[in-house]
Amino acid sequence: MKPFRRRSAESSLAVAILLCIQQIQAITLDLQNPDSIKAASKIVADEMVSYYTGYRPGDVPGNLPAPYYWWEAGAMFGALIDYWYFTGDDTHNAITTQAMLHQVGPQNDFMPPNQTKTEGNDDQSFWGMAALSAAEDNFPNPSADQPQWLALAQAVFNTQAARWDTSSCGGGLKWQIFSFNGGYNYKNTISNGCFFNMGARLAVYTNNQTYADWADRMWNWCSAIGLMDDQYFFYDGSDDLLNCTKLDHLQWTYNAGTFLVGAANMYNYTDGSPVWEARINGIISGITKIFLKDNVIYEQACEPVGTCNIDQRSFKAYLARWIAATIVRAPFTYDQLKPILEASAQAAAASCTGGDGGASCGLQWTTGAFDGSTGVGEQMSALEVIQSNLISVSAGPVTEGSGGTSKGDPSAGTTSDIGPGDLHAEPLTTADRAGAAILTVLICLVIIGGAWWMVI
Ligand SMILES: *[C@@H]1O[C@H](CO)[C@@H](O)[C@H](O)[C@H]1NC(C)=O
Ligand SMILES: *[C@@H]1O[C@H](CO)[C@@H](O)[C@H](O)[C@H]1NC(C)=O
Ligand SMILES: *[C@@H]1O[C@H](CO)[C@@H](O)[C@H](O)[C@H]1NC(C)=O
Ligand SMILES: *[C@@H]1O[C@H](CO)[C@@H](O)[C@H](O)[C@H]1NC(C)=O
Repeated sequence: MKPFRRRSAESSLAVAILLCIQQIQAITLDLQNPDSIKAASKIVADEMVSYYTGYRPGDVPGNLPAPYYWWEAGAMFGALIDYWYFTGDDTHNAITTQAMLHQVGPQNDFMPPNQTKTEGNDDQSFWGMAALSAAEDNFPNPSADQPQWLALAQAVFNTQAARWDTSSCGGGLKWQIFSFNGGYNYKNTISNGCFFNMGARLAVYTNNQTYADWADRMWNWCSAIGLMDDQYFFYDGSDDLLNCTKLDHLQWTYNAGTFLVGAANMYNYTDGSPVWEARINGIISGITKIFLKDNVIYEQACEPVGTCNIDQRSFKAYLARWIAATIVRAPFTYDQLKPILEASAQAAAASCTGGDGGASCGLQWTTGAFDGSTGVGEQMSALEVIQSNLISVSAGPVTEGSGGTSKGDPSAGTTSDIGPGDLHAEPLTTADRAGAAILTVLICLVIIGGAWWMVI
């Protein structure tokens, strides 16, 4: 800690003036005026991109510096694809395309070998969903010799469909892809929810029933296991070593969001089926009960207690993004959902007075002010919720049958050399087991010895 120093009258005055300037620089947001929403989005987006250095010579395109994990970079490029779609501002398109294409990996399925140690199904999905948004938004296509947005999304989907795991819990996806990563025995809601999300959106985009069948299967499985309950509350996940008989009951905004937008796409795909309509209404009612204060979104599991980690600080971004996408595919939700985007955007904008330029957004929108928390997640959340208010003036998204230009490949990701079986590490040999047993006995002896030593 630095030694305390009495602040001079002059420096107090300087601070006061600075605070006044910051006050003036607070983002103005008039939700009735699309230009105002665009201007506010630009300020927040530029600040978000200031964290990213991957486009610089010698840096790796697509990676955010520590402490951000690889997945959050994929989420951020998804936010920038949305940013272009909503505002028409192409300032960040070049770094977005560069990053997306650099991270596709040798099989064009967002499985780059550098990320083996951090990549779970949900991580892969955030890149896949960014590619899918690019197809839906008609984001400029890569040159013909490069992988294409739709095919990349299909590849992610197909690799995950091949990982559907019936060895426990009657199905579902494990969190982790590789058995050597922690969390391999966890079946978490976000991994399964993002597969549902992509399946439903691919069904609408391609009009191919196979994707809808998978989305149905996933919904039914999550429901049967209890990852979602009859109040449409979505819990964090379940341990497959216990055959998913026990749940982690934490609720996160992005889990509700990913199921909401998936259900909206299934509703659209089925031409407005009452079954999906009821599910959408149920999810909205769950969101209203758990994640809103005066219509302002908050991360109730960690914001009130101040424990949101780096990942969790970005989750509201995805709920906002998916609420907007739900309004598009299920327009009957407009009257219920648009006020949430409005109140939340207004509150988020009021929190964007931090940092040197007075454009850093805080975490807790419900406080009505900047709370001192800054980062990519805070910035992305504010960006998504503010720009989502342009949903009523944006051209609708496209599908293959209505103006979509991205080239697909239904078999992408199925010819990979890494089959689902190969993803699992070599089975343990008897020698390994014997070695592990000896190690366990040794550790126990050390612990018992230590305890005995302390007793005497
Ligand atoms: C993998 O890491 C190497 C070394 O840092 C880097 O040169 C390369 O661009 C990385 N590849 C990807 C896809 O990130
Ligand atoms: C595991 O759970 C699934 C789905 O609930 C069930 O069908 C299966 O019988 C259970 N297996 C065991 C061994 O209890
Ligand atoms: C499906 O989505 C389109 C826009 O993508 C919308 O115009 C249409 O009304 C939706 N269908 C239903 C049944 O709401
Ligand atoms: C539909 O999708 C499935 C699964 O990816 C694929 O095997 C099939 O070829 C697709 N059908 C068409 C007509 O594209």
